[in-house]
Amino acid sequence: MSRVFSDLSAWRAARGNEDYAGKSVGFVPTMGALHAGHRSLLERARRENERVVLSIFVNPTQFNDPGDLEKYPRTLEHDLALADGLCDAVLVPPAEQLYPDNYRFRVTEWELSPRFEGAHRPGHFEGVLTVVLKLLLVVDPHRAYFGEKDWQQLQLVRDLAKAFLLPVEIVPCPTVREPDGFALSSRNARLSPDARARAARFPKILRESPDAKAAERALAAAGFSVDYVADHGGVRLGAVQCDGVRLIDNVRL
Ligand code: PAF
Repeated sequence: MSRVFSDLSAWRAARGNEDYAGKSVGFVPTMGALHAGHRSLLERARRENERVVLSIFVNPTQFNDPGDLEKYPRTLEHDLALADGLCDAVLVPPAEQLYPDNYRFRVTEWELSPRFEGAHRPGHFEGVLTVVLKLLLVVDPHRAYFGEKDWQQLQLVRDLAKAFLLPVEIVPCPTVREPDGFALSSRNARLSPDARARAARFPKILRESPDAKAAERALAAAGFSVDYVADHGGVRLGAVQCDGVRLIDNVRL
């Protein structure tokens, strides 16, 4: 049975005691609405560490659209049931404890952040990097697990750890997909059955198109509204809207 911490000073006291001190600690940061993709991160962390910490925090600073923040699924009871047996501690901190400065101090990255996702979601990566730095400092893990589905986030978090000399290994984990190839995501719950059926074409078109421009055209022809498709760093990245739900994915080239 994992222990739930809603108070960071109680967590810090536990982190310093014999349950955690001297033991390898794996960390899985999330915004909740857990699914099988998160479960695979927790399972891997369980295999590779003596202790596993999960955080559930819907980080307001990474939402550029207030409507998206409001609609983001909050399913704590379900999340605790899914994580049961796979972690030792669950951190559910209140925003005032993670942002005692009211977001006066921020992590800004200037090269990769403004591109792709960043070009469509101003301020998003500033919010992500700031909260990830705070969480890594609070949890002090040996390893932290991030999904490859958020490819740009993964690169930025890896660079963040290097830039701030954090003694943590950032572990990339493969995207978990449904049998039809559609990537799992907390936002998928907002797709209607009809939109969900059409959404499976998104990764297929990314994978099968000869280049990014052709993928963009094929996605538009399939009824998606395309934010971007780009080939970068050996992967093809894409973001589309499907019936008002924003989907992102990437495939290796
Ligand atoms: O990938 C996510 O769920 C979030 O961006 C993260 C890393 C938990 C930071 O809020």
